[in-house]
Amino acid sequence: MADRKATLTVEGLDKPIELPIYSGTRGPDVIDVRGLGSEGLFTYDPGFMATSSCQSAITYIDGGKGMLLHRGYPIDQLAQNSDFVELCYLLMFGELPSKAEYANFADRVTSHTMVHEQLANFFKGFRRDAHPMSIMCGVVGGLAAFYHDHLDITKQEDREISAIRLIAKMPTLAAMSHKYNVGQPFNYPRNDLNYAENFLYMMFSNPCEEYKINPVFAKAMDRIFMLHADHEQNASTSTVRLAGSTGANPFACISAGIAALWGPAHGGANEAVLNMLDEIGDESEENIQRFIDRAKDKDDPFKLMGFGHRVYRNFDPRAKVMKETCDEVLEQLGRADDPQLRIAKRLEQIALEDEYFIERKLYPNVDFYSGIILKAMGIPKNMFTVIFAVSRTIGWISHWHEMLSESYKIGRPRQLYVGHDKRDYPTD
Ligand code: SDX
Repeated sequence: MADRKATLTVEGLDKPIELPIYSGTRGPDVIDVRGLGSEGLFTYDPGFMATSSCQSAITYIDGGKGMLLHRGYPIDQLAQNSDFVELCYLLMFGELPSKAEYANFADRVTSHTMVHEQLANFFKGFRRDAHPMSIMCGVVGGLAAFYHDHLDITKQEDREISAIRLIAKMPTLAAMSHKYNVGQPFNYPRNDLNYAENFLYMMFSNPCEEYKINPVFAKAMDRIFMLHADHEQNASTSTVRLAGSTGANPFACISAGIAALWGPAHGGANEAVLNMLDEIGDESEENIQRFIDRAKDKDDPFKLMGFGHRVYRNFDPRAKVMKETCDEVLEQLGRADDPQLRIAKRLEQIALEDEYFIERKLYPNVDFYSGIILKAMGIPKNMFTVIFAVSRTIGWISHWHEMLSESYKIGRPRQLYVGHDKRDYPTD
């Protein structure tokens, strides 16, 4: 329902165009520009800097305040009091589960963690040194070849079973991609472990010795899953929505989301942060300053990975929780004085006092500290973005489900055409 209207006067048009304005629960009002098409006009917004692609009730971000709400609950309160499985239920169904609903949901997820035995053969087609993200793009898309018994996306129950299958199987496939990389046998999931424990078990257990779950690592893993779960209409979620708007099956849509997440400007940043810290190497002031200067140099492609954000013009609230978790894990390992953590903290301190970063409101984002924790837990760098994808699957599939539960149209942006005008093919 329009609350107000915008009146647009356009030179050359004999009457102004009236456009409805809508207000949400929080955040900027939106101008409904759909009427411009009939006036022969398009909007122009490369990178969607000021474009709302949909309405959604799942997550709200206030970039100025550094606020992140999942179904209204602040991320720091969820990280403190909830767990990843409960957050999956909240994002998917809109309310916190009762104890019975939680138990039933957790059981449904647990009972779907195994993958079809044939899928193991799929891995064998990849080179052993294939990046696990490339394996995940392929294998997750391939799930559609195995689970096509409930793919009528017009049915709520089919959408739900696909969502549960994806939430449940992503950790299994992720761990399999790691085991394939290191040449160790795949581990089957265990139904006596919780989500984070099961992932660590499948990642690190081997047939030669009993694997003991480190409770600090399991809690840190669960928190990392929670902090990466959803982030409104980011690039990979928008990719999933666009793919879903064509009626593509959910496995193909999530595979598209994985591909989009892989980029170093998006989910690939956590791996890029560790590469950057490795490149910085020496923690001397002048060396760190040299990298800060490179990040400010327009002629140098180097950017401070893990810094900056399209929406946050303040601290990313997830980065704050991640930093606390980083301190906890390294403290527990007796490595509170980890050299890469020292470099990261010094880099953050220098950048936050530097006019270039202050002026552009560039702060550490979710990726700045996550890689240091994951490395401390023995997880290889090439698995960092895979872990982001495991977590973000609930965000992707919740948005996919929300879109399909309401009326929607196929996403089909237009363009400003700047190519050749009509011309004839030379026939002489
Ligand atoms: C994620 O969208 C989401 O919600 C994403 C995410 C999620 O949960 O889904 O939060 C996850 O992707 C976090 C971001 C991870 N990426 C990185 O850490 C890579 C480094 N960051 C930059 O690439 C950049 O900050 C982006 C891509 C994150 C945001 O880019 P924008 O919004 O397009 O901003 P911009 O590139 O236009 O930057 C504005 C200015 C530019 O300088 P000027 O042209 O104004 O002089 O800030 C500069 C940029 O050069 N700048 C940086 C910088 N980030 C921006 N300069 C140095 N180092 C940086 N990291």
